[in-house]
Amino acid sequence: MPVPPASQVTVRAPAKINLGLAVGAPRPDGFHPLATVYQAVALYDDVTAVSREDGEITVEVLGDFAAEVPADDTNLAARAARLLQTEYDVEAGVELTIRKTIPVAGGMAGGSTDAAATLVACNRLWGLQLTSADLERHAAVLGSDVPFCLVGHTALGRGRGEQVTEVMSRGTFHWVFAIADGGLSTPKVYGELDRLRPLRRVEPPEVDPELLSALLTGEPAALAPVLSNDLQAAALSLRPKLGETLQFGLERGALAAMVSGSGPTCLFLAPDSRRAVDLAVDLADSGLCRMVRQAEGPVPGARIIPGPAR
Ligand code: C5P
Repeated sequence: MPVPPASQVTVRAPAKINLGLAVGAPRPDGFHPLATVYQAVALYDDVTAVSREDGEITVEVLGDFAAEVPADDTNLAARAARLLQTEYDVEAGVELTIRKTIPVAGGMAGGSTDAAATLVACNRLWGLQLTSADLERHAAVLGSDVPFCLVGHTALGRGRGEQVTEVMSRGTFHWVFAIADGGLSTPKVYGELDRLRPLRRVEPPEVDPELLSALLTGEPAALAPVLSNDLQAAALSLRPKLGETLQFGLERGALAAMVSGSGPTCLFLAPDSRRAVDLAVDLADSGLCRMVRQAEGPVPGARIIPGPAR
C-alpha cells in the first residue's frame, strides 16, 4: 500500500565503525578502493524534517557538536534534501533540525548518517514512494559511507565504500568511544596514508576472512585480534597523542583498541557491558579525551521514529 506524505517526520540514524578497513592505492578519480566491514552502533543523530511551502531548504543543528556543523547549503543533509527535490521536481521545501550526538569529523560517519536520515525523511515527507534501492543509489552520490548508514547492522563495503552487502553477525558487541578534541579531515588522512607507504607495493584491498568468522561466533575475544584499520597509522601520524589514548584503554581492560575510520575517535572493544562502563569511567577520568560514549552494535540503519513534540 502506498505510504501517504506526512507534514513532519523524525528519523534516527546510527554512527558507523569499521571493524576492518583495508585501503588500496588511489584510483584515477582520487578515491581509494576499500574492502571494509562496517558496523552500525547505538550512537544516534535524530533528523526532524518539516515541510515548507516556500520550497526553501533550511538546517538547524542542536546538541553536543552543534557549533562545529555548518547550518547552510554545504551541510550534507541539506545536499541530500536538495538532491531529492531536484531529481523528483518537488515544489515543497523542508526545515531540517539535526540533533547531534555523533562526533563531527570523528571517523564515525556523523555527516553521512545525517544525509541518510534526510533521504529517508524527505522520501516520506514528500510522498516520493522511493524504494530502499532508489535511496541507496542517491546515497552513493552523496558520500561513500551514506549507503551503509541507510542499511545499518553489519555489512561489507566495496568500491569506495558505497557498495554495501549485509554480512552475518551474531550477538551484541560492547564498544566504548573516546572522542578527541577537534576533528580530522578525511581527505588529509587518506593523503597521509599515501605519503606513508610506497604506492607501488599496495595490494588490492581484501576483507580478512577471519574477521567474518569471528563475527559469526559473537565472541568479543574472537573479534578483538582480527580488528584492523589501514588508516590508523595515518591518523596516528597526524595526531600522535591518540597512541596514548589507545594504550590507556588496553591497560584498563579493553580487548582491542583502534582508531575509528579516519579518526580521531578511538574505539575500544569491551568484554561485556559492565566492563564497558568501567572502561568508560576510567577514560572519562583520564583527561585524554574530550568525552566518552558507550554503545552497542550492531543496530539497524536510518529509521523513522515517533517525532519530538513541536
Ligand atoms: O565519500 P566521501 O565524500 O565521504 O569522502 C570524503 C573524502 O575522503 C573524499 O573526497 C576522498 O578524499 C576521501 N576518500 C577516499 N577514498 C574513499 C573514501 C573517501 O579517498 N574510499
